[in-house]
Amino acid sequence: MSQRVTFITGAAGDLGSAVARRLAANGDALILADVDADRLSALEQELSHLGHGVLTRQLDVTDEDAVRAVVDAGVTQFGTITSLFNNAGISGGTFPLPEHPLDDFRRTIDINLVAMFVVLKHALPVIAQNDDGWVVNTASEAGLKANERRGAYAAAKAGVIQLSRAAALEYSREGVRVNALCPGPLEGKLMRVSEGGMPDPEEFRARITAASAVGRYGAPDEVAGFVTYLLTEAPGYLTGATLSADGCRR
Ligand SMILES: NC(=O)c1ccc[n+]([C@@H]2O[C@H](COP(=O)([O-])OP(=O)(O)OC[C@H]3O[C@@H](n4cnc5c(N)ncnc54)[C@H](O)[C@@H]3O)[C@@H](O)[C@H]2O)c1
Repeated sequence: MSQRVTFITGAAGDLGSAVARRLAANGDALILADVDADRLSALEQELSHLGHGVLTRQLDVTDEDAVRAVVDAGVTQFGTITSLFNNAGISGGTFPLPEHPLDDFRRTIDINLVAMFVVLKHALPVIAQNDDGWVVNTASEAGLKANERRGAYAAAKAGVIQLSRAAALEYSREGVRVNALCPGPLEGKLMRVSEGGMPDPEEFRARITAASAVGRYGAPDEVAGFVTYLLTEAPGYLTGATLSADGCRR
């Protein structure tokens, strides 16, 4: 196929930026969106000499009008969007269930699940105009396994898995593969926030690490290589899948 144009949300974060670097090196045109304008600007400067063009936009993915505007801006600049890494997310608060404030629970679901739908709603019809398309929605191993004190995060990520299957059913015959990615714990900002919310962060980290076959957290770039494959080479039959990259966590 001709030029790939990949839209990444949460692009300034650890995983989003690792995928952006790989895709830029592969020659993709990139639409990079994140609520964090400073980190996004630093990434833009780093990548602007690579790939086939980088469009960056500060974006709150919960704002439907703003999401629509970024999709439109990407189409205006590059002619189309061929691939989506629907990846923005937050850890949310870590609370025992009876103490979880309703506004934090709602915000965690809003960013991690509702906004995934909003981005799919506006990007999928554009992607489907091409012969081939690729979508990866970032869920989490937290959406598959029991997680303490993170009910909102776990529920949102379980929702992302089912949302991905629904989108795959609707779009796979149009050539768009839609898959859900379930990373395990990765070194970086998000896990530091999660650890910080636990009564004993070091004990939590040691327990999480011991529960994985590799005995460590993953590096964002290890998962980024897998995402790059799913966004560039995955065949049409690889769709509607829930794919773990979690160091074999029990
Ligand atoms: N880090 C992990 O251990 C881990 C494990 C499983 C799943 N995940 C998921 O992977 C994805 C990427 O996480 P990460 O590890 O790179 O964390 P990260 O915190 O480094 O990156 C997340 C990015 O999303 C952005 N973001 C947050 N709210 C936003 C909003 N409303 N609008 C737009 N952007 C917003 C943040 O600014 C940040 O740059 C998330 O969906 C996360 O839930 C992470």
